Amino acid sequence: MDRRTFLQWTAKGCAAGCASVLLPACASVPTLRPKVDGDVLSVSGDQLLDSDDAWYVARAGGPLVLLRQGAGFVALSGVCTHLECRLRPSGTFLRCPCHGSTFQPDGTVVRGPATRALPTYAVRETAAGLEIVVPK
Ligand code: FES
Repeated sequence: MDRRTFLQWTAKGCAAGCASVLLPACASVPTLRPKVDGDVLSVSGDQLLDSDDAWYVARAGGPLVLLRQGAGFVALSGVCTHLECRLRPSGTFLRCPCHGSTFQPDGTVVRGPATRALPTYAVRETAAGLEIVVPK
């Protein structure tokens, strides 16, 4: 096992262990289960409570994070670009519980060790709710 694989393996194990300890903090971020049609994830509007500003969006390729931004929404990857831990919305940032990387809602890295920005995805508002376009 090379160094990078070892670090990824331990980071994922740490994330899983930390998840059980930090569950109360994570539990406040609801998870949406969208309808998937090709590259489009559809979320019904009744799942987006006015009292929430952040959601996880479940999907096979790793969770997304949906954030309310002013009158609109932004969607970005919920997986840290350092060693792939699941990010947590925290105020106006996304923070990584594994090594502390912090990202802005536009995906930009504010604090490392991550150096790559998070992928962001187009969000369209529809009469029924939202559509997030996630190209494969
Ligand atoms: S996995 Fe290392 S900072 Fe996120």
